[in-house]
Amino acid sequence: MARRAGRTYLVKEEQGLHLLSILVLAGLVSAVAGGSPPPDLIGPDKAYLKSVVVFQCKSPGSPAPIAFELLKDGSPVKTRVVPDNDQEAVFRLKISETSEGSYQCRVTTGGTINHSGMIHLQVIILVSGAHVTSDPQPPVLYEGSRLTLSCDVRAGSHLSYTWFHNRQEVTSLPTSPLNPRLLLGNTLIVENVTAEHAGNYYCIARTMLMDRRFSSSSEVNIKVKAHLSVPQISFTISKEGSSYRCNVTCRSSRGTPPVTFRLLLDNVEVGSEVSGESLVAWFPVPVVPGQDMGVLLCRVENDAQLLTSEPLTLEVVPVGGSVTVDIEYLYRFDSKMSAARLQCHLSFGTFPSFSWSLNGSLLFGCCEGSTSHALADAGRTLLLAEITPENSGYYRCRTKDSYDNASAWVESEPVLVQITEVTMATIEVIAIVFCCFLMLTLAGGVACVTRMLRNPRECVQSSQQPEERRFSDNFCIIRPPLPLSEVTSGTALKRLDSCSADNDVSCVDSDLQNQTLEITI
Ligand SMILES: *[C@@H]1O[C@H](CO)[C@@H](O)[C@H](O)[C@H]1NC(C)=O
Ligand SMILES: *[C@@H]1O[C@H](CO)[C@@H](O)[C@H](O)[C@H]1NC(C)=O
Repeated sequence: MARRAGRTYLVKEEQGLHLLSILVLAGLVSAVAGGSPPPDLIGPDKAYLKSVVVFQCKSPGSPAPIAFELLKDGSPVKTRVVPDNDQEAVFRLKISETSEGSYQCRVTTGGTINHSGMIHLQVIILVSGAHVTSDPQPPVLYEGSRLTLSCDVRAGSHLSYTWFHNRQEVTSLPTSPLNPRLLLGNTLIVENVTAEHAGNYYCIARTMLMDRRFSSSSEVNIKVKAHLSVPQISFTISKEGSSYRCNVTCRSSRGTPPVTFRLLLDNVEVGSEVSGESLVAWFPVPVVPGQDMGVLLCRVENDAQLLTSEPLTLEVVPVGGSVTVDIEYLYRFDSKMSAARLQCHLSFGTFPSFSWSLNGSLLFGCCEGSTSHALADAGRTLLLAEITPENSGYYRCRTKDSYDNASAWVESEPVLVQITEVTMATIEVIAIVFCCFLMLTLAGGVACVTRMLRNPRECVQSSQQPEERRFSDNFCIIRPPLPLSEVTSGTALKRLDSCSADNDVSCVDSDLQNQTLEITI
């Protein structure tokens, strides 16, 4: 660890004794000339704390007495006057934390001052007592906030740091799952923490000049709290004795407990609960079915957030009005009727329960292994997987208040479910009907044209409305405003209307100006 200050002096040293005799002379000359060669400083550039190091300053060729001074960062720390021709001084230094700096030797001889080159001494303090300090402290923070971890040591100098997250080394590679974050000196900074940043962190501080020496901290557990989501509110009702009670549920889907839930009825707090582990709270509230009890709000809060649910009217409407059933048949790809879906609709009722009957006997919920029917939508929908003679018949839906066994059933009219033979696909049927229609139209058209050519007085457009019926070249128009009396015979008009028989009706020279109409039969 020892080195010499300055290249120039090394050269001199190598030449050693060879130059010595010349230097004695040269010293005298240079003293006279006002300049002797610069002194030479030999010493370590690294030293352990509390060790003792030796700096050696040589000024060969300088005339005695020589005053040697050891300067640290420009100020003298030790002085020695050598009276004889020894031309060198030795300085012993006990290394403390403040010993680090640039050392230089200053030689004063015969009125001249000379400086040696510089040696930068680094004080090595062996690392010990590494520990992680977290900001915030305690290390619990919300998503999106900033986390700063510092690797602090009780002692140590010239340190390098390595961080570990859940026992994995933290690197600043862009592929690292913990990005974005920053390793800066002894700190690890995460600007926007997410749930992934939570976990155990520790650091290792290493003395850079002595790679083997390190100190490892203990683990610090970082907790990242999720922000709360807006709470959802709902309620169920039950009967207790002769009174009714609602069980109001307040629930947040996201967030980190503990949180406090509060229930407000018409803006008055009626309950609060600290939820330490879950994100749900229940509140019992007495109710009277059929009455509007007010508006419920649920609030959830933690030390950072306060969120309020949508309002919910606390009103339980008993089942009432009428009940109807909708049937929807489901067809297979080959257009065979395969299944049916029956849906029960009721006019009102907040908590209805449903049951179904076939030909008057009750169907129970989908029993294990039952393939013929299934209930869905809390019994509101009945699915018949297959329509067979065994499950064809008259279905009824009935409903009552689910919370009150004593309430009366309200029943629908029966609806018939049976297989109806639909053998052809609708599209096929439409296609055939359309073809028939086309062919008929064509045939009719051809017949009409043929007849027209044969008998020009014949009916051309039998589809015309009665008030505007044309007959070949001589046309007559019969309008409803034309009084029947102006037509010679009512029977004739009827027959004219029908316009079907050959040659039995014809119009002769209608003169509309004169409103005369001749009809020959
Ligand atoms: C309310 O409902 C929840 C969930 O079903 C239940 O755990 C709780 O005991 C109920 N509270 C009351 C007061 O009935
Ligand atoms: C239900 O009644 C109808 C009509 O009386 C009958 O056709 C059908 O087979 C009956 N269904 C069952 C499963 O008994």
